[in-house]
Amino acid sequence: MDVIHSVAELRTRLADERQVALVPTMGNLHDGHIELIQLAKPRAACLVASIFVNRLQFGPGEDFNRYPRTLAADCERLAQAGCNVVFAPDEQQVYPEPQEFTVDPSDIQHVLEGAFRPGHFRGVATVVLKLFNMVQPQIAIFGKKDYQQYLVLREMVKQLALPIEIIPAETVRAPDGLALSSRNSYLSARERIESIALFHHLDGIRRALMEGRRDFSVLESEAVASLNARGWETDYVAVRRQSDLREPDVHSRALVVLGAARLGKTRLIDNMEVDLS
Ligand code: PAJ
Repeated sequence: MDVIHSVAELRTRLADERQVALVPTMGNLHDGHIELIQLAKPRAACLVASIFVNRLQFGPGEDFNRYPRTLAADCERLAQAGCNVVFAPDEQQVYPEPQEFTVDPSDIQHVLEGAFRPGHFRGVATVVLKLFNMVQPQIAIFGKKDYQQYLVLREMVKQLALPIEIIPAETVRAPDGLALSSRNSYLSARERIESIALFHHLDGIRRALMEGRRDFSVLESEAVASLNARGWETDYVAVRRQSDLREPDVHSRALVVLGAARLGKTRLIDNMEVDLS
């Protein structure tokens, strides 16, 4: 496996590759990331994982500085998983000058995560477009753990006519249900136990929907109140349409329940698809 830090070296390494799959990450890899690698592996002759903590997608008070950076351990895991190239650029390689051209995603960028993290999806779309241009993959894999991110990037590829197939990966969870995330390492032992409450509340809504409940806003506000009563600071719990994250009506069948909430210093997100066919 080659570990490459510069765009020039990357272009040389990939010059003769005809079929490249890209898995973009911010590192501190866990089994969720490795699942993306495994999904990509059989689909391309050359598998590239990128590791770059993208300043542009973090807000002013967010965790850019303390985001865990574990390149050596990440490379070990990627080598074991059969990755061919790790692209780990520094800030100078990705942003050699202030990034004045940005990708402004569709209106979907302003709801849910976007409402609480203004500019976040502009930062994500901009860096992912740059990574696409640097790596020039035919295939890219994104996790449904970040459901809105996956939809924003799927829409970007469609609307900007990028010749890239986007493949979604299911969320990988710990045995107790907690969605794996690099940010879980911020949780204290006591918070780690409480952290599954977010999953349980979303799953409770999923079951209520399966049983026929359609009073979406009641389900949402009950979950928010219940999480807050347990000491969480909840940004949102929302039942939305899978296709575009708009509010569903009683006839909508393909739904997704999404939530974001802070437990102590840690902000966790999770979601669950619900198919009422
Ligand atoms: P990061 O949080 O490192 O996630 C990298 C990829 O792994 C994303 O596609 C994410 O959805 C996926 N992922 C994370 N946890 C997962 C889990 N438990 N199960 C399945 N997939 C999971 O998302 C980013 O980085 C950045 O925004 C990035 C796209 C790299 C742009 O900077």
